[in-house]
Amino acid sequence: LEWIEILGGQPLNGSVKVQGSKNAVLPILAATILHKGVTVLKGCPKITDVYYMIQILEHLGSIIKWEEDTLMIDTLALNSCIIPTEYANKMRSSIFLLGSMLGRFQEARLPYPGGCVIGERPIELHLAGLKKLHVKIEEGVEELVAKAEQIIGGEVKFPFPSVGATENVILASVLGKGTTYIKGAAKEPEIMELCRFLNTMGADISGAGSDEIVIQGVEKLHDVEFKVVTDRIVAGTYILAAISSHGKITLIDAPVSHMTTLLEIIERMGVIYQNESGRLHIDATGKLKSVLHIKTEPYPGFPTDLQSQFIAVIAALEGECYIHETLFEARFKVAEELNKMGAQITYDNHVARIIGGSTLYGTKVEAKELRGGAALVVAAIGAKGITSIKNRHFIDRGYEDICKDLISLGANIICQECC
Ligand code: UD1
Repeated sequence: LEWIEILGGQPLNGSVKVQGSKNAVLPILAATILHKGVTVLKGCPKITDVYYMIQILEHLGSIIKWEEDTLMIDTLALNSCIIPTEYANKMRSSIFLLGSMLGRFQEARLPYPGGCVIGERPIELHLAGLKKLHVKIEEGVEELVAKAEQIIGGEVKFPFPSVGATENVILASVLGKGTTYIKGAAKEPEIMELCRFLNTMGADISGAGSDEIVIQGVEKLHDVEFKVVTDRIVAGTYILAAISSHGKITLIDAPVSHMTTLLEIIERMGVIYQNESGRLHIDATGKLKSVLHIKTEPYPGFPTDLQSQFIAVIAALEGECYIHETLFEARFKVAEELNKMGAQITYDNHVARIIGGSTLYGTKVEAKELRGGAALVVAAIGAKGITSIKNRHFIDRGYEDICKDLISLGANIICQECC
C-alpha cells in the first residue's frame, strides 16, 4: 500500500528502540570501497536508501549479505568505478562514491546527482575540494569524470560547512599521499562517525567534530567490525510525534548527546525529559507552549531534517512562531499539506510564519519527500479524525517502519504491514 492512514488524537505511550542512522551509514557504506576486504556493519537500518546504496556497491563488484541488522560487505573483487545513470538517479547520496572510488581507483565516473525536491543541491564544493587533492575533473554534459594520477594531500578551505563535501574529501584522501587539511569542515555527528569508522579500519584522521580535520594518508586499511550509531533525526521525529499527541514515551538507545539543541527547545516548550542509561524519557502531558523563533543551522544548530516535523507540532500549539530555513529553500512546501489539515502557515523562500493554536483535522494529504512525509505523520498523530498520507515510499527512504514503531507506542495506524 502506498498510503498510511492514521486515526489521530490518541496520546502516544510506551517505549521504542531507535534504528541505525541513515546519514551515518550511507557514507560508511561508500567508505567500504576503500578497503580490499571485509567490513561487518552492525545496526544497519533497513531503509530504501540503504538498499539503493547496496545495489550500487553490488553493481561495482562487492559481495553483500544481510544477517538480521548486520551487513557483511566483501569488496575484494570490486572492479568498476562507473556508476550508471539508473542507480545515481535513485539516490543523491551516490555522490559519496566519487570520493571513495577516487581513493580506491584514482578514477570515478558518475552521472550528476541533480537537484531534488527540497531544493537545489549543488556539488561545486565537493569538486573544488577534490581538485585540491590533485584530482582532475571533466564536467561532461551528462557525466562527471574524475581522475588523478595519484591523490596528493592538500589544503581544502570550505566557505560553508557542507556535510557531503567534507565527507567526499575525507574519503578521497584517506589512502592518498601526504596530509590533507580540511578547514571549515562540517561538524555533524555523521562526520565523526565516518572518521571513527575509518580510523577503526586503520585510517589516520584527527579533528572530526571540529571545523578543522586532518587526514594523514595511509597505505592500506584492514578488515573491521563496526556498530552504526542510532538515528538522531528518527529519534527527534518520534519525540515530536509524542509532543503532537501530548503523550509520554521512552526512546531506547537514542543518541542523546547529538540531540542537545532539540532537547533544549522542547524543554522551553514545557516538555520534561530525562536521560537514564540508554533510555530517554519524554513527557509531553503537561501544559505546552510554542517558541517564537527557530533557525535551522549546521550542527550543532537546529537540524533542517527536523524542521518540517517541528512545524507540524508548532501549528497546533498556542502562539506565533517564525521558522528560518537556512539550508534547503523548498522545505516549506509541506506547509501546503499541513494547511489542508487546518494549520495556518505562510512562507517565502526562507521564513515561515506559523499562527499556532489551530485544531488539525484528518484529511487526504500527500508526502512529496522524506522529512515532509514524516511531518505529515507527526501532524496526523495529534489531529482529530483520519489522515490519509499518500506516497509512503518517500518516508520509507529514511524510516525502517514508522508505522510499526508508532503502533508500538499506541498510535492507531492502518497501513500495509499492519493490516
Ligand atoms: C546532508 C544530509 C541531509 C541534511 C544536510 C544538512 C546526508 C545523506 N544528507 O546533505 O539529510 O539535510 O546534510 O544537514 O547526510 N551546498 C552548496 N554547494 C555544495 C554542497 C552544498 O551550495 O557543493 C549547500 C546546499 O545547497 C545546502 C547546504 O550547502 O544549502 C547544505 O548542504 P550539505 O551540508 O552539503 O548537505 P548534504 O550533504 O547534501
